[in-house]
Amino acid sequence: MNDLFLRACKGYKVRPVPIWIMRQAGRYLPEYQQVRGEVDFLTLCKTPELAAKVTVQPVDVLGVDAAILFSDILIPAEAMGLELKFIEGQGPVLSPTIRDKQAVSELKSIDPKKDVPFVLETIKILREELKDRVPLIGFSGAPFTLATYMIEGGSTKSFFYTKRFMYENPTVFKELMNKLCSVTLSYLSAQIEAGVQAVQMFDTWAGILHADEYQRFVLPFVQRIFDYLKSCGVPRIYFALDSYHLLHVISQIDCEVFGIDWRIDLDKAVEILGEDRVVQGNLDPCALFLEDKELEKKVKDILKAGSKAKSHIFNLGHGVLPNIPAERVKFLVDLVHKLSMDL
Ligand code: CP3
Repeated sequence: MNDLFLRACKGYKVRPVPIWIMRQAGRYLPEYQQVRGEVDFLTLCKTPELAAKVTVQPVDVLGVDAAILFSDILIPAEAMGLELKFIEGQGPVLSPTIRDKQAVSELKSIDPKKDVPFVLETIKILREELKDRVPLIGFSGAPFTLATYMIEGGSTKSFFYTKRFMYENPTVFKELMNKLCSVTLSYLSAQIEAGVQAVQMFDTWAGILHADEYQRFVLPFVQRIFDYLKSCGVPRIYFALDSYHLLHVISQIDCEVFGIDWRIDLDKAVEILGEDRVVQGNLDPCALFLEDKELEKKVKDILKAGSKAKSHIFNLGHGVLPNIPAERVKFLVDLVHKLSMDL
């Protein structure tokens, strides 16, 4: 099996540098669109054979060094009792919104085997299919990012209701974080038990907070989840978007890999996180629109900066965009493999 990714997670400086891509199974791939043409997004997530099929597509088409389970961070929100819809052009919509003590107390805890059996079944199919190929990454949203979707009822730019809840009623806000922490913990444990070989926690919206609030309302919950998972023995990846100003606090987290977005150079991130840490990232998803020579220069710069870390896993700094030609993404994968041999 290609174990470059897992060895890099453990801190080995492997060559070539492994690459996988956030949202690598998605609309930019004609093969994905073909499957999506037949079923809606949630049905795709809940049909193990199809979810497994689209998970493997980027491994076949791009030659990436890891597969990531096809699902969504909001699947557990549905299991907690909310109604979840994906509306074309608007993204996810959750109802009812969770904005007071009563609503928080009504949220259910989850039993993954009973409430999200399709996720565990998808993992089992995938481990069988991928066994001689690449490792499988499982994932969840981080409690704070899940909280924003539940409080706002979907995507937002201002995060008004989230911040209002946090400042106006910090005790109840922490009760919500506690519940989400327990759910995430059992959800990721179940994924590991079903066979995922690494887990990534996506904290997409942590960056809207000041470091003081991050320290108080986010860090303890992230740490509790990772502490619990430590004994499972699979690499734990934490990815917080737009989090340059939080990195000195994030550096306190005990996990194997830190995902970094494109706003900061990897060598600067390493200065803050420590040279004994493993980093993952961090090409701007839009840089795939650069012409070949300029893209090549950017990739070289990232590989060089990444070599300052204990080890480096190449990725984009956020999910691949739907309007990037698949050939361009394949070009990037080959480029990273080729250029990293000369490091
Ligand atoms: O990375 C992968 O390939 C695995 C699958 C995956 C999806 N979503 C599939 C998806 C993962 C890891 C996610 C995580 C996710 N989902 C995050 C965290 C990472 C990030 O992007 O910040 C968030 C915030 C969500 C919530 C979510 N799901 C949004 C906001 C949207 C709408 C976005 C859009 O472009 O419409 C989704 C839908 C979604 N999740 C799609 C995919 C492939 C598009 C669905 C479609 O086919 O129409």
